Amino acid sequence: MQVVSLKGSPRTRGNSSALADALCERMQDKGAEVRSWNLNELAFRGCQACYLCKTELETCALEDDLTPVLDAVRSCDVLVLATPVYFSDVSAQTKAFIDRTFSFLHADYQSAERPGRLEPGKRLVFVQAQAHPDRNQFRDIYSRYSTFFIWNGFRESEFLRACGFQEPGEAARDPELLQHVEELAEKMTAP
Ligand SMILES: Cc1cc2nc3c(=O)[nH]c(=O)nc-3n(C[C@H](O)[C@H](O)[C@H](O)COP(=O)(O)O)c2cc1C
Repeated sequence: MQVVSLKGSPRTRGNSSALADALCERMQDKGAEVRSWNLNELAFRGCQACYLCKTELETCALEDDLTPVLDAVRSCDVLVLATPVYFSDVSAQTKAFIDRTFSFLHADYQSAERPGRLEPGKRLVFVQAQAHPDRNQFRDIYSRYSTFFIWNGFRESEFLRACGFQEPGEAARDPELLQHVEELAEKMTAP
């Protein structure tokens, strides 16, 4: 079981990262192999719209720190994608990664029955941390982005959410969230 964890907060000990780390630790305990990156520490650009991944290549034409990360996502079983909410959306670091997953789509993705190049069967855990305590706020972020991952060929997705947390890491001490982490670790490592 290969797990890739991508953390999109500049706060390496922030709430989204702490939850992603807690989940990965539990999955590791259950036998998963985990590779983890802080997106903020990588030198990479967003999609340049060169369309080479649609005309000449099967992969992204850009070669930068995200290249091995995209390769790892291509071969993983579970992707943990963690982001803070910034101005009602994912962080810029997270969005730049998501834009680069355009390279996961076939040239004829708009009409193809299977639009994505990825091996089917992958699972996504989308981790989102926000200061606003109201769960109805920013709920749409997950549905907007998880739809694209499913379209890309992911089998299913799960939503792990910290609402009303501001101080770094406090979400990972919340008993309800820790229970959810435990359940997800069990589910993601089940055959
Ligand atoms: C630039 C910026 C924009 C933010 N925008 C929002 C927002 O729109 N809604 C919200 O609830 N919290 C917002 N926050 C607060 C963070 O989402 C919150 O502190 C969260 O716990 C950060 O996640 P992290 O600990 O993983 O970095 C913002 C914080 C920053 C720095």
